Amino acid sequence: MMNIGSAFMNNHNAFSIRFWDKLAAKYARKPVPDEAIYEQKIQITQEFLDTDDEVFEFGCGTGSTALRHAPKVKQLLATDISPAMIGIAKQQAEASGTSNVSFATGEVGDFKLESCSKDAVLGLNIMHLLPSPTVALHEVHRILKNDGIFVSSTPLLKNEPLFVRWILRIMQALRHAPYISLLNKDEYLKQVTDAGFAVVRAWMPTKTSIFLIVRKAEVHTCCEKNKAS
Ligand SMILES: C[S@@+](CC[C@H](N)C(=O)[O-])C[C@H]1O[C@@H](n2cnc3c(N)ncnc32)[C@H](O)[C@@H]1O
Repeated sequence: MMNIGSAFMNNHNAFSIRFWDKLAAKYARKPVPDEAIYEQKIQITQEFLDTDDEVFEFGCGTGSTALRHAPKVKQLLATDISPAMIGIAKQQAEASGTSNVSFATGEVGDFKLESCSKDAVLGLNIMHLLPSPTVALHEVHRILKNDGIFVSSTPLLKNEPLFVRWILRIMQALRHAPYISLLNKDEYLKQVTDAGFAVVRAWMPTKTSIFLIVRKAEVHTCCEKNKAS
């Protein structure tokens, strides 16, 4: 018998998929909100990437950022819950002639990735959309190698004025917006450090967003075994 938790998640995911599928074509056409901030995030991330790196991305949208990082890494698996987003991402990869990025549909935990197998994980503009960011953070921690990094860019919607938060909640109630968690900086940093990460770089490009690079701090013994073999 299905429990209440999994019924909620199934319902939540079905709504998310419909919501993001409908938005995908428009999202692909939309320019990034601030080109200079976006470019700085790309540049900071690439300071931490290496051409030998195996990278995983979740919530990749139409894949534009994955394709930007492709020349700097060995392999990148970019994933998203929305088949329409992934469809556009695949077209973009083909158009750009990129061969070291693969795209797949699903949530972060769906891919049954090997423990301690990735050098870097990207979660960009996605953590605030997850009903349980802690579950995702633990999965990211599990799949990262011991010195692996997690890069996230996260809206801090608790810092928005009250009327904006009210509008968001009303839109959600009317099913015009997906689930959104209202976080502030300290709450997000606590979630990340509680999941076993140490902060390497924290940058707030605006009052309502944080760009974070964290390193896996609490080691998994399986990673040591992988390294030795
Ligand atoms: C705001 S967009 C961000 C896309 C891209 N990362 C970017 O920065 O432009 C959020 C993306 O997360 C995806 N998404 C929403 N919930 C998800 C979940 N539970 N698992 C994986 N992807 C999800 C949506 O389909 C959408 O493509």
